[in-house]
Amino acid sequence: MAQTTLLNDTFLRALLRQPTAYTPVWLMRQAGRYLPEYRASRARAGSFMDLATNPDFATEVTLQPLDRYPLDAAILFSDILTIPDAMGLGLEFVAGEGPRFQRPVRTEEDVARLAVPDIDATLRYVTDAVSQIRRALTDAQGRQRVPLIGFSGSPWTLACYMVEGAGSSDFHTVKTMLYARPDLMERILEINAQAVVAYLNAQIEAGAQAVMIFDSWGGALAEGAYQRFSLAYIERIVAQLKREHNGARVPVITFTKGGGQWLEEIAATGVDAVGLDWTTDLGRARERIGQRVALQGNLDPAILFAPPAAIRAEARTLLDRFGNHPGHVFNLGHGISQFTPPEHVAELIAEVHQHSRLIRQGTV
Ligand code: CP3
Repeated sequence: MAQTTLLNDTFLRALLRQPTAYTPVWLMRQAGRYLPEYRASRARAGSFMDLATNPDFATEVTLQPLDRYPLDAAILFSDILTIPDAMGLGLEFVAGEGPRFQRPVRTEEDVARLAVPDIDATLRYVTDAVSQIRRALTDAQGRQRVPLIGFSGSPWTLACYMVEGAGSSDFHTVKTMLYARPDLMERILEINAQAVVAYLNAQIEAGAQAVMIFDSWGGALAEGAYQRFSLAYIERIVAQLKREHNGARVPVITFTKGGGQWLEEIAATGVDAVGLDWTTDLGRARERIGQRVALQGNLDPAILFAPPAAIRAEARTLLDRFGNHPGHVFNLGHGISQFTPPEHVAELIAEVHQHSRLIRQGTV
């Protein structure tokens, strides 16, 4: 990927805790079912996986929220479950039920069969999508609208789906394995960690300008188990990522849902930014962490169901809690709901930009 000029680098600057004229904002799952144009693309493609595995469709839906809203970053349209799919577990999305694996990893033999997939052979559709999205974000003069985020699941969060074979409310099967056969669990996590390193580095080489590790189920783990079975592997991944590409620093974000109590430990893994869910107060989080890392988050996605005035007030409260400091990327505390009215998202983004400018100018 040739050198490009970023027209809007506020997101990357905020991740590196550099001053910005306003607080950048993007939303987890910003390309998704709440957008009618996404539902139309998915209907044309056939299914979610038909969208994700076709770089033309993946590019189209990645750009949809950017054409609608003045977002400060694009995120690759894909899924964290592409890695276990590439391992041969047989990913399916059952309508209305979420993801499911045809061949979950349950027994010692299943674990013994697991191997790190050859990214270039199995996940080429993802790196092709990354390059194509980068081109689509860039005009003929080489000017790029906003940076592109690549992502992966954490080894533990991937293991949850691989062992459970689907989503879970209590993680019964995967936690039984963790406590009964920690050796098997560690073997799965080791393979996942190696796959995540290769996958994220391939995305960086293809043009991802920041990468995010989604540890959506880290918060389901007990104190002690979190450190051993999730954080330790994230730390090893972070140490092996390409942190510079084409002369630019590639920031790394980790998001552990339910991980607010481990903020200091997550920050100590070497990441540039920590994503927080809505249960942690952003002002106190900033006091705890100082300038060691940037923070990303953390509006309760349910606020987007309320009327615009309430959404704007909650956005201001959150920005005020963080205060006039560098190092904040505004986001939701988890993915946007499919039932969110699209016009409410416009209100949120406008308020984040407006109010954070006023905070920077010292006028509020
Ligand atoms: O943020 C973005 O816009 C980029 C795209 C993205 C998707 N999934 C697309 C998607 C990202 C970053 C993800 C990450 C992901 N996927 C996570 C981690 C973040 C989180 O939400 O905790 C997890 C746990 C998954 C696994 C997954 N994929 C589940 C549980 C589901 C079904 C639940 C649901 O929301 O429907 C998916 C499907 C999925 N991935 C959809 C999208 C837009 C909806 C599928 C559809 O269109 O029918």
